[in-house]
Amino acid sequence: MALDWTSAPPGGVLKEFRPRRTIPSDWIPAQPGDLLKEIDTPALLVDLDKCEANMALLMATVAGTGVRVRPHAKTHKCAELARRQVDAGAIGVCCQKLGEAEVMLAGNVNDVLITNEIVGESKMRRLARVARAYAPARLGLCVDNIEIARQLALICLAEQVVLDVYIEVDVGQNRCGLTDPGSIVELARFLHADPSFTFRGLHAYSGLAQHRRGVPERRAAAAAAAARAAAARDAILESELPCDVVTGGGTGTFADDVRSGIYTEVQPGSYLFMDVDYAKNEPDAGAPAFAPSLFVLSSVMSLQDERATLDAGLKAFSTDLGPAQPAFEGWRVRNVSDEHTVLMRSGDNSPPIKLGDKALLVPSHCDPTVNLHEWLVAIRNGRVEAVWPIDARGKIY
Ligand SMILES: Cc1ncc(COP(=O)(O)O)c(C=O)c1O
Repeated sequence: MALDWTSAPPGGVLKEFRPRRTIPSDWIPAQPGDLLKEIDTPALLVDLDKCEANMALLMATVAGTGVRVRPHAKTHKCAELARRQVDAGAIGVCCQKLGEAEVMLAGNVNDVLITNEIVGESKMRRLARVARAYAPARLGLCVDNIEIARQLALICLAEQVVLDVYIEVDVGQNRCGLTDPGSIVELARFLHADPSFTFRGLHAYSGLAQHRRGVPERRAAAAAAAARAAAARDAILESELPCDVVTGGGTGTFADDVRSGIYTEVQPGSYLFMDVDYAKNEPDAGAPAFAPSLFVLSSVMSLQDERATLDAGLKAFSTDLGPAQPAFEGWRVRNVSDEHTVLMRSGDNSPPIKLGDKALLVPSHCDPTVNLHEWLVAIRNGRVEAVWPIDARGKIY
């Protein structure tokens, strides 16, 4: 029998709801000026000196090459950090989701590219309305299907907006994107001719290339992706259509992508924070070395013999690429559960830990870890400088 949600439950009417008490909404884990030990845990911390150095290092690496930087905001989901990236010289940001893009536009980031396809009438309509609400800010997206492009064009016409569009080329990710030059040219011709669109060029990102551990393998994967992007671009240019932008490249390959002569724009995200997984990539003498700047701060909530249990578990850091790791020597992660991480001494000389001590952990994967937190506590010289909302947290739609 189908449930009928409109009828009262058998045996009576619904009980009246009790008036709710409001939860004070002004809780934040720290206040500017607090010491590290005063921060409520678990909390997500960014070391500002390191984060700013990473930002400057990226811009210095790309300076003078003519390649533009559009960092990926899926990493930090924080409008304050996006504005700082733009202040440091980025042309705007990338987002993965419309909800993230909306947050960035509302946060005064005026050039946003959704590095993803959007399907479904209601979402396309929302996209067009967001674009209209924030015009003249630029909003772009990826397309890899001409029928979807036709639907989107009609919706943009009805909503009176013009969107930036990029054809996604599959350059090795095997996820989204076209490979066949004939289909790429056909789509480019349509996008270029349609008044609902400004055809900007190609989106050519290979995520798999970023995490190839050895330098030769990583460089080979980046070169293969660039060659595919070049073939698609050349097919468009030979058809006498414009292709001004080729955008792609993450933290693992952007230095190669800049040197390739193919990419006009790079989109690294993780470089700002880094993580345990990125640290496993073999360092490349031809690319800058970014420093970890993101930490989960936890407290030692139980201490039994050789075991120290922390108050942060897999709801405070992602574990898809393994647990977060202690930022200090002498202790190792034994296991992680929802709200706990158990550390064990890993040697006779392990530094002592006391009940209530604060422990810094380095996330294994920065992007999904950030998505678990409401606040980013910005630290400088051991004190809280600011506390920023992670405004696009949970914006997965
Ligand atoms: C399309 C796209 N561009 C750029 C990035 C940034 O990559 P990274 O965080 O490795 O720098 C990602 C990350 O997944 C991505 O999906």
